[in-house]
Order: sequence, then structure tokens, then C-alpha cells
Amino acid sequence: MILLDGKKISSEIKEELKEKVAALKNNGKGVPGLVTILVGDNPASQSYVSSKNKLCKEVGFNSKAENLDKNITEKELLDLIDKYNADDNYHGILVQLPLPKHIDENKVIQRISPDKDVDGFHPMSVGNLVIGNDTFFPCTPAGIQEILKRYNIETKGKHLVVVGRSNIVGKPIANLMLQKKENANAIVTVCHSASKDLSKYTKDADILVAAIGVPNFIKANMVKDGVVVIDVGINRVEDKTKTKGYRVVGDVDFDEVAPKASYITPVPGGIGLMTTAMLLSNTYKAYLNLNKKA
Ligand code: GUN
Repeated sequence: MILLDGKKISSEIKEELKEKVAALKNNGKGVPGLVTILVGDNPASQSYVSSKNKLCKEVGFNSKAENLDKNITEKELLDLIDKYNADDNYHGILVQLPLPKHIDENKVIQRISPDKDVDGFHPMSVGNLVIGNDTFFPCTPAGIQEILKRYNIETKGKHLVVVGRSNIVGKPIANLMLQKKENANAIVTVCHSASKDLSKYTKDADILVAAIGVPNFIKANMVKDGVVVIDVGINRVEDKTKTKGYRVVGDVDFDEVAPKASYITPVPGGIGLMTTAMLLSNTYKAYLNLNKKA
């Protein structure tokens, strides 16, 4: 079993970006900039957003965190997005999801300029992904593809089974890996909460992507020997022995499944770090695209 080391690979990506940013100095066009917008005080969201900003600073990007009260109106949020759509210092706009119930998530996503859609959630980006055009790919799916690529794991003709059909992971990873392209070209199955006898599908997976949101959901008897396991789950479970009172576990029962796997991502230290690395890549891409247009 080989551990797919998200820490190592994401560090390599960060180093590559650091060098690219250093080379931009004195070009008169500034550096890539990302604004994160967080509404409310969900602790997990707060932690994701602060690590995104910290990483931006580490690679030399400009970054700003807009942390808004949970009672902000939808109009105030849309106005703030308009402001950053028009601000040349920021090339990427990330609105952390989920949003409070009184705000229409779709409306917010669609307000972000497709040129600054570094999350790849805008319908324009989603449509381009589906038809195989170059665009911003959502960060978690892009991170999964990148780690498979950097470990030279064959995807062509392989059966990739995704468990979960969210707009953030399940649907985009399925579409990305289905493309007739390098590092894709897989045979894709998407399972979800209405799938009866889930094991029938997961046992046939050459590559299994677990994006369910249930701690330790995938067990050893649900996979075949030699499977490549990508665990997208980031679940906080109570653990009184930890100072924070919780520990983070994935959607895969690592101790059970790892001995059967050829490759597996750990949690933490796997896909979570790849996701933030790809956010940086997308922000750099947005910077290049916007400068080309200017
Ligand atoms: N919430 C959970 N994952 C994500 C993500 O990748 N981007 C944003 N904006 N919100 C999220």
C-alpha cells in the first residue's frame, strides 16, 4: 500500500507557484489576488477560509478575508461581490459555502464574474467542464486529478466509482474524469443515497472516490484488492483525548481499507491539502487570463 501524500504534493505545487510569483515581481501588474467571503461563524468554514488566506500569503499572493455577520442581507452580499468583480487587485473571488438559509446560494454563485470564478461553481464554468473546454475546475476534483497524475496512476479505461453527487465534488469529479483527455478517460459510475446495494458498485471500483460526508463509511468488505482510494471526507468526530475535543476522520475506514488498497489518501494530509493547492493554481490562472484580457 502506498500513501498518496497530499502534504508532499501540495507543497510541491506551492513551491512551483512561489517561483512563478517571484518571477512576476517588477512586471508592473502586481501579484495574483484572492478575496474570500465568509458569512457567519461556522467553525469548520472559519478554519477552511483562514487556511486559504494563510496559503495565499505563503506563496506571495495578495489576499483578503471578508468575514461577514450571519444576518447580512442577500443584497449586501451581492453588492460586495459586484465590488470585487470590478476590483483589479483581486483575480479570484471565493464565497465559502454553505451560506445561511436566507441567502440564495445559486444567485450568489452566478453573481461572481466567470473570469474570477476560482471555485469553478458558476454555471458557465460547470458547462465548460462538461463539454471539455478549458475552464476553472472545482478545486477538490482538480486536486484529485492532480494527485493521481503526480503518482502516475493510470486512469484511462479504469472504472472510477464516485460515492456522492454534490455540486462541489461528486458531479464535477465524474465529469472531469470522463473527458477523453490525459489523466482522465475513465469509465465513471456515480453512486448516491438512492443506490441500493452500494457494495455492488464500490467492489468493482479500480479507483474509488468517497465523498459522502459520513465518518468511516467505506469498509474493507466494500472494496476489491488493489483499489486506489481517494477519501474526500473531512469529518469532525468527538475525541476527548484531543485538546480541541475532536479529531478529523475521512469517509473511509482507513485502518480497515488501507491493507487492501494499492494507493490511499490519508485524512488529514490527503485531498484537503490538494484542494487548497488547486485554489492557488486557479487564482494564478485567473490572474494570467485577466492580464491577457487587459
Ligand atoms: N465548502 C466546502 N467546500 C468548498 C469549496 O471547495 N469551496 C467553497 N467556496 N465552499 C466550500
